[in-house]
Amino acid sequence: MLCWLNFFVTSFSSSLFLFLSLFILFVIHFHLCSKGIALLALKNVSQFSENHFNDESLFALIAQGIENNGYSILPTALPEILTNTLFTHQQTMEADKFKSAGIGRGKKYLKNEFVRTDAISWITGETDAGKDWLKWVAGLQSYLNRRLFLGLFSFESHFAHYSPGDYYKRHHDAFKGESNRVLSLIVYFNSNWLPSDGGELVLYKDEHDKEGTKVVPLMGTIVAFLSEEFPHEVLAANRDRYSIAGWFRVNTSVTDRVDPPR
Ligand code: OGA
Ligand code: MN
Repeated sequence: MLCWLNFFVTSFSSSLFLFLSLFILFVIHFHLCSKGIALLALKNVSQFSENHFNDESLFALIAQGIENNGYSILPTALPEILTNTLFTHQQTMEADKFKSAGIGRGKKYLKNEFVRTDAISWITGETDAGKDWLKWVAGLQSYLNRRLFLGLFSFESHFAHYSPGDYYKRHHDAFKGESNRVLSLIVYFNSNWLPSDGGELVLYKDEHDKEGTKVVPLMGTIVAFLSEEFPHEVLAANRDRYSIAGWFRVNTSVTDRVDPPR
């Protein structure tokens, strides 16, 4: 009898032990899993915010403008973090990084004060700010290629600084059949721009247009236009004016011509 009792007690306590151990294991497992899920969620959030930088809804707006009108003008549209990074970088760049802009390429390089007087610095992607800019541009390029089949192949761009009195006379960024520049892209880094500050970009719809559309070079404004279609100019600025100008190219090799302005 005692033997049976003993058996029951020990088997009861060992199954209790087993049950308790399983319970503890379950609790630990659950804890780790939920932590894992939380970590995963955190990872997704950070991935999301990184992708958010390449905001497709902004790219869609740019594409829509190009598709419908050949150009897109979007005030304060560049992602704020990118705008601040580029603005800060441009402000801290040493003045000697900027070279006075010329017309033409290579040997044909020619400083032409009659046409333009701004100073420029080409963006090579060596700095973090340059990398961020080129990453954003790459996102835009791939979106435009998917949406509009533009076949954009490469991109080149420079910071530009217009000192008081600087201008860029009416010009084309590309001439029909003479260049593989297809899309111009400009962004601005100027706060509190007043009408008296001048320096507007004027985009003309064709050769005959004398009136044009004026764009105020305000912080984060994005302008994109088909390079061959729109003559344009920068009116003389009355204060320092900062921007990036860039061009997407298609992949055609035509060597016996000169592209403005590089
Ligand atoms: C250019 C140009 C316009 C601007 O650099 O070719 O047209 O508003 N820039 O800075
Ligand atoms: Mn131009």
